[in-house]
Amino acid sequence: MVIQKGTLYGIGVGPGDPELLTLKANRLINEADVVAYPAPETGDGIALEIVRPLLLNNPQLLPLRIPISVSPLPAQYAYDQAAKLLELELEAGKIVSVICEGDPFFYGSFTFLFERLSGRFKTEIVPGVSSPMACAATLHTPLVSRNEILTILPAPLEEAELKQRLINTDAAAIIKVGRHLPKIRRILRNLRLEKYSHYVEHATMNNQKIIPLDKIDSQTVPYFSMVLVRKIKDRDNSGER
Ligand SMILES: C[S@@+](CC[C@H](N)C(=O)[O-])C[C@H]1O[C@@H](n2cnc3c(N)ncnc32)[C@H](O)[C@@H]1O
Repeated sequence: MVIQKGTLYGIGVGPGDPELLTLKANRLINEADVVAYPAPETGDGIALEIVRPLLLNNPQLLPLRIPISVSPLPAQYAYDQAAKLLELELEAGKIVSVICEGDPFFYGSFTFLFERLSGRFKTEIVPGVSSPMACAATLHTPLVSRNEILTILPAPLEEAELKQRLINTDAAAIIKVGRHLPKIRRILRNLRLEKYSHYVEHATMNNQKIIPLDKIDSQTVPYFSMVLVRKIKDRDNSGER
């Protein structure tokens, strides 16, 4: 049952460049009583960094501390705690905007808050420009065209599964690259896909970098990095089919 109290917004704030916020996201962030943002144990996190230059009305800022952990349990506990903080504000009738890097429903942390709160409070989602689109634009490589199939591949998947899924697709966005780069490189080499693969980190942010795959230092791959792969079978340019 939805209790009519405050309203919860899950707001995509795009991949980094504040100009890539939608008009709606910008408006709702500035109309909110509370702007809540996922943040690591210390510091502010990327979503707040993106919107900070756009905040006009001095809203209450509420950090939702989510530890970066490979194990799901501490994170689940942190999401329970974060949901409780939001619940207090919503019970008080406030408009709460939870900001989320990229799109909230594309591997966004907001999904875990949505699961916990949307049944009880009026909730709206505002889509954002997502990282595969931003990376494709930055790299000047179309993600897919015509009837090609795009697969989103989280790099923590097992090597055999990543490989099989790359075999079965026309194009892929490999996300969460980080410490998995050596594995990704191995698979791409094995499938002879290196020449169809492109790496970008911090797309559209001030520290954006495009680096050839064989030149990346695997010790320093940041969290916000992606490999796009597109197998180009023919180039007959015969248009849409
Ligand atoms: C948990 S997912 C969140 C995705 C986000 N909600 C979106 O819509 O893009 C995080 C992964 O998205 C990718 N990512 C997000 N923003 C990026 C950016 N600006 N440049 C490169 N990769 C990015 C990285 O692969 C990162 O590990």
